[in-house]
Amino acid sequence: MSKPLSRLLRREQFAFLARDRSAWGEHLDRVRTFLGEGLQAADPSRPVLILGAGSGLEIPWALAPPATTGWDADPWSRLWTAWRHHRWAPWVFEDLTGGLAGLEATTRRAVMEPWSRRHRDRDTAARRLAGLLPSLQPDPASLRTWIRAQQPGTILVANVMGQFGMVASRLVENAFGAPPWDPDPDRSDPLAEALEAWTARAIRAFLKVLCETGADLWLVHDWAVVFSGGKVDLGPWDEAWFRQLVSEGPPMEASDALAGLDVPGLLAGSGHHVIRRERWFWPVATGQRHLVEALMARRPD
Ligand SMILES: C[S@@+](CC[C@H](N)C(=O)[O-])C[C@H]1O[C@@H](n2cnc3c(N)ncnc32)[C@H](O)[C@@H]1O
Repeated sequence: MSKPLSRLLRREQFAFLARDRSAWGEHLDRVRTFLGEGLQAADPSRPVLILGAGSGLEIPWALAPPATTGWDADPWSRLWTAWRHHRWAPWVFEDLTGGLAGLEATTRRAVMEPWSRRHRDRDTAARRLAGLLPSLQPDPASLRTWIRAQQPGTILVANVMGQFGMVASRLVENAFGAPPWDPDPDRSDPLAEALEAWTARAIRAFLKVLCETGADLWLVHDWAVVFSGGKVDLGPWDEAWFRQLVSEGPPMEASDALAGLDVPGLLAGSGHHVIRRERWFWPVATGQRHLVEALMARRPD
């Protein structure tokens, strides 16, 4: 993992932990209960893998079987976890998308002429990058190799999938020196669209690797970020999360952290039965709520 990338993830983790967490109680209870059930249901004779293990804020490590490995590219994540849970777990620090290094190198090539090291103007660089992105195919090769070698019986995906797009955006913004996105939301933005398509490919490839294993999957992800000055509730369950949102008062805005993908549909398409599913709101900041989804999926014997 390159230095700028690991610095970026470390900075994001600090920013995450430095937030006002006073309204996070219900989210933390629900996510810890859900992931804790996954750890307790795990076959202790087989390896368990926790992806997006982070600092362990959401993970009840005391319930984790001895052969549990954490995976998080933030270089401080293992230390944070040891400090929080008094447990020095085996750890993998690799990029779970397998595509961030390629994205970083391609962005740098678009921003700067390699022959003169002169920076291109923002619009030229953005057009160039939008044209290059479709050729990038993120491939989580490290994850595939680890899983094939270790054969985990249970995999927890702890709030990391919804981060793939956000980390990719930060990486592009850092290379440009400022956000290169079109500020007018009514105009189409080819670079933003190309990056969203990259994120969708990364999530699909990641889920494909998870589904190739026979492991029980316990997934928690931020599905959408909902901004609203008014009241927003969750109505009766609907496969499409946006149809489940019920809002009173001023119009709300919602952005899709999973690039428009249907995660339960993708799991079902690869032969998994979704056995448990829950959704709740996580009030991350004033006026900003994340719609969180928890899914337990298993391949029938
Ligand atoms: C919202 S935090 C999850 C918090 C964590 N579950 C906990 O209990 O502290 C997302 C985590 O995913 C990690 N992450 C984001 N993108 C990643 C990637 N591509 N590869 C590996 N880890 C990544 C971040 O470093 C961060 O720790």
